[in-house]
Amino acid sequence: MISRRQCLLSALAAGCAGSRPLLAQTKIDVGLAMPTLALQRWVIDGLALARSFNGMRLVSDLQFANNDVQTQIAQIDGMLGKGVRALIVTPIDGPALAPVLKKAADQKVAVISYDRLIRNSPHVDYYATFDNFGVGVLQGTEIVRRLKLGETAGPFYIELFGGSPDDNNAFFFYNGAMSVLKPYLDSGQLIVGSGQTGMDVVSTQAWNGVTARFRFEKILEKTYVKQRLHAVLAPNDGIAIELLQALKLKGYGTEGKPWPVVSGQDADVQSVRSIIRNEQSFTVFKDTRQLALAAASMAEALLTSKKPQVNDEKTYDNGVKTMRSLLLKPVVVDVANWREALVTSGYYKDYLFR
Ligand code: BGC
Repeated sequence: MISRRQCLLSALAAGCAGSRPLLAQTKIDVGLAMPTLALQRWVIDGLALARSFNGMRLVSDLQFANNDVQTQIAQIDGMLGKGVRALIVTPIDGPALAPVLKKAADQKVAVISYDRLIRNSPHVDYYATFDNFGVGVLQGTEIVRRLKLGETAGPFYIELFGGSPDDNNAFFFYNGAMSVLKPYLDSGQLIVGSGQTGMDVVSTQAWNGVTARFRFEKILEKTYVKQRLHAVLAPNDGIAIELLQALKLKGYGTEGKPWPVVSGQDADVQSVRSIIRNEQSFTVFKDTRQLALAAASMAEALLTSKKPQVNDEKTYDNGVKTMRSLLLKPVVVDVANWREALVTSGYYKDYLFR
């Protein structure tokens, strides 16, 4: 079911996609299958992709699937019906796309996996993403730095959260963060008060912030009555914002009970505002304009029989093959550099933060 908001957005994107109006009979070159409108970043990604294709004089069809697997399959099927020659897909559940991607392959349609890897299908040609392990490393490193674990013996209490178990990225983020945190957990300088570690326990289905918050509230009630919590590994901003709400209700953010270090990812407007208020500690910014341009250039190359640019051919195995990938660099954004990174760079307008 596609909401009115989605239609409007798709229409807006289509408007961006060409000086020609997107009429029913217009030839569509590229299908853009994004997961949801609910998280800001996918909207920015989608529009940036459509804009890039517009600049290349290619017509794109942008659709958001409301985080629903069947909707995404139907949307991709519909794009194939419209005769697209390439697909850029951010999967909700990669393996579930296998049959529709087989159909794409049969129709000689090139498939680019966007940001998230489509697992368990041979019919994925290229992968455009950020250094996802690197995102986790940045999150872990910032937590260690802000707790001053190099200089202070601790122990400090931390709780861990992971992304959706059906999203390959979630494991890369978690493993990246744990590669930095593990030595401190092993030495006892960091303690997970709840004892809950490992993606099988800390993951959050569909990246739903409210689900993460429920788990967190139980932990806060059980483990942190007398003990203060010092850090939270939140995998993205959507989850961080919900966890901060739970912390606030437990009296954190006051002189006697300062905010713990709380990580994030995506530089969502709400989180940037929270960072400016000194609540969320930092976020990991991935300039989705760069990713959109990189993926669009890959598609353009494939459509003109050129070789797309890649910089990694070993990190990502989708279960069937090792992907030819282009990995972009994530950066930490906090109260010191948010303006330069997000406003001066043109990613956001200044008025959003006044
Ligand atoms: C993306 C993150 C995003 C998350 C939830 C991940 O695959 O890499 O940027 O926060 O999905 O949508």
